Amino acid sequence: MCGIVGYIGEDAVQEVLMYGLEKLEYRGYDSAGIFIFDQKNQGHLFKEKGNIAHLRKHIDFNIPANVGIGHTRWATHGVPSVMNAHPHQSADGRFTLVHNGVIENYLEIKDTYLGNIEGKGNTDSEIVVQLIARLADKQNLSGKEAFREALKIVKGSYAFALLDANTPNVLYAAKNKSPLLIGLGEDFNVVVSDAMASLQQTNQYVEIEDGEMITLTKDSVVIETIDGEKVIRDSYQAELDASDFEKGTHSSYMIKEIEEQAAVIRKIVQHYQDAEGKLSIPTKLRKNLMDADRIHIVACGTSYNAGWVGKPLLENIAEIPVEVHLSSEFSYAPPLISGKPFFIFLTQSGETADSRQVLKMIRKWDYPTLTITNVAGSTLSREANDTLLLHAGPEIAVASTKAYTAQITVLAVVADVLAREKGLEKKINMIPELGIAANAIETIINEKNRISELANLYLEDTRNAFYIGRGLDYFVSMESALKLKEISYIQTEGFAAGELKHGTIALVEEGTPVLAFITQESSANHTRGNIEEVRSRGAKTCVIAMEGLALKTDQFILPKTHPILAPLVAVIPGQLLAYYATLQRGYDVDKPRNLAKSVTVE
Ligand code: M6R
Repeated sequence: MCGIVGYIGEDAVQEVLMYGLEKLEYRGYDSAGIFIFDQKNQGHLFKEKGNIAHLRKHIDFNIPANVGIGHTRWATHGVPSVMNAHPHQSADGRFTLVHNGVIENYLEIKDTYLGNIEGKGNTDSEIVVQLIARLADKQNLSGKEAFREALKIVKGSYAFALLDANTPNVLYAAKNKSPLLIGLGEDFNVVVSDAMASLQQTNQYVEIEDGEMITLTKDSVVIETIDGEKVIRDSYQAELDASDFEKGTHSSYMIKEIEEQAAVIRKIVQHYQDAEGKLSIPTKLRKNLMDADRIHIVACGTSYNAGWVGKPLLENIAEIPVEVHLSSEFSYAPPLISGKPFFIFLTQSGETADSRQVLKMIRKWDYPTLTITNVAGSTLSREANDTLLLHAGPEIAVASTKAYTAQITVLAVVADVLAREKGLEKKINMIPELGIAANAIETIINEKNRISELANLYLEDTRNAFYIGRGLDYFVSMESALKLKEISYIQTEGFAAGELKHGTIALVEEGTPVLAFITQESSANHTRGNIEEVRSRGAKTCVIAMEGLALKTDQFILPKTHPILAPLVAVIPGQLLAYYATLQRGYDVDKPRNLAKSVTVE
């Protein structure tokens, strides 16, 4: 989704901003721009539709300039275009603004405050910069005061960075619900929506809370509430390193991240092991979970699919009932809440607006909450009572892969801890079983050429496809289908194998690819029956089965893994099939169309 980078210091600002925007590319965008003040305080605006490389060609890097703001835009209000691209400027040219988020009352603001001022584009963001200029003009306010007054009027989610031509050596920013951080340095300061945009300059950050505004010069930082109260907050050191974000010798981030999964599982096990070699989580969190009579997992997309795998893990191993909810649906169909619920938010980014909305609701109800996320210090991490980190390293490809397996692994850790607390530890010897799953993943990665062949055989020129399975295999089907559709654009459904015959089998025709997972003894025969049903109607079937349940005629055999952990292993061919099908079709595996890495609007 949209990204922000602002810099005030002594370096050539064009390069700093472009480095930041390039690092934000993975989040998804459709236009981009920068605004800089040169050393004579003249403003220069560059914005383009399309990618950062295109914007780069239009920037004048010879202008001596040390202050600026930049933005990548993922369209919400108004089509992707140069006019709608950020930065936006007030009609009088005094103020320049970039914005992430959605202004809910922008039409009301336009009608109430802007009179006959006409904007150039159709964005909600442009209305805000016009509002600031109008307030400054009508009420004879300084830029900072006009910004403050505007913040009292705007409703919605925002991270803003603002420049005022009357104070070109000051950068203003503010935040509500959208991520924004201050990065600190010697003789410079930055403001970024994601630390990775400035890791080249600094690893020292200060968080900004909702409802705060920031005044930055190259050597000072002032944080205030919108009402003007000063805030003192310590900085922290980001644990990330710029090299974590490089793809090294890999041709794409996606393949790098797929291949990292075995190592991620091992790292999680190592991280959550105590001095006695047992899996452990913080005591208070463990007690809260033990007190609960039901766990609710709330998530979106891939994280939601991981939540479904977490349900049988927790229910079978730790014997606690679990419900899984789509964040975006939660408030429209809230569950009947039991006496002692516990809420787990699964989110790779920790910034997903739909999930955050639910977290805020649950906090009002005062129930215990845990965020399982990959991003330390992310919004959902800060706002939940507890956090467990995925330790997966930055996931850059839009299609989530290692975060999925990491989420399942962390849920397995939680299940193991609770099981031991309840005296149920004999059910599974979790640490070695996770080790076996990690080894199995490596074996599959070594056979990736076979999966490339299968992608070619089954998916080369198809318009649609099905993944089927039962129980845990159904949940892996959901995730494999999401992977395939989001990057290869093949319309794919993940289906409960037994449900096809209740209607959807009507879509199966000569040559329709149906990919089936068989990893569970209890459902293997029934799924084989469903495979025969579709094959006899012309489907091209591809069976991915686990050793011990596989037939010689199956297309891919998964190394044997504990059945409850089978999704960790079965999903790998699903991810690789999506990857190869996308490459074979000539699309960008890392940056699929229309999608953003971190979805910060509801
Ligand atoms: O950051 P989150 O895990 O909360 O994101 C949720 C979804 O947007 C995300 O999992 C999305 O479905 C994936 N990019 C799909 O690969």
